[in-house]
Amino acid sequence: MLLRIDHVGIACRSLEAAIERYTSVFGLAVVSQETNDEQGVREAMLATAGQSSYVQLLEPLGDDTPVGRFLARRGEGLHHVGYAVPDVVAALETYGGRGVRLIDERPRHGSMGASIAFLHPGDLGGVLTELVQPRAARETLCPGWGARLRAVEAALRLPLGHGLEPPPGMGARRTVKRPQTR
Ligand code: CO
Repeated sequence: MLLRIDHVGIACRSLEAAIERYTSVFGLAVVSQETNDEQGVREAMLATAGQSSYVQLLEPLGDDTPVGRFLARRGEGLHHVGYAVPDVVAALETYGGRGVRLIDERPRHGSMGASIAFLHPGDLGGVLTELVQPRAARETLCPGWGARLRAVEAALRLPLGHGLEPPPGMGARRTVKRPQTR
């Protein structure tokens, strides 16, 4: 079940320039900035006024990364669509069972503590599709999960506040390096 559009991912050459565009033209607010080494991107999430969906701006860490190759091939623009799902593992099983190739057989770390997985654009009309289980959904499905995560984060000395609640110093630049736990 797709609950809603969680975010649109937009590839850009300069994260700063893209943020400037979306804040000055649309008045969106940056709620999170992260570097995701595993996916080879620097990214920012900007919330729409309803706070239920986001614009995800993606700048590649290098040419030889998925977004770097996308920029070389297609230029700046829409990169993927992310849909919120209640359970990303169940969603992978369901859509994989319906014949869609899975880029990720198992979920990995996404923005703001989400669990994410990509579906192959070749089976979806050319649209790279991301399934997003937001942190809130994990908390709902598994009470106490958030507290355990915070304990782990504290132990690993990761910055706190990159979950659901607006982070302290909203809009401030922060870099979150996530541990590889899977
Ligand atoms: Co995304």
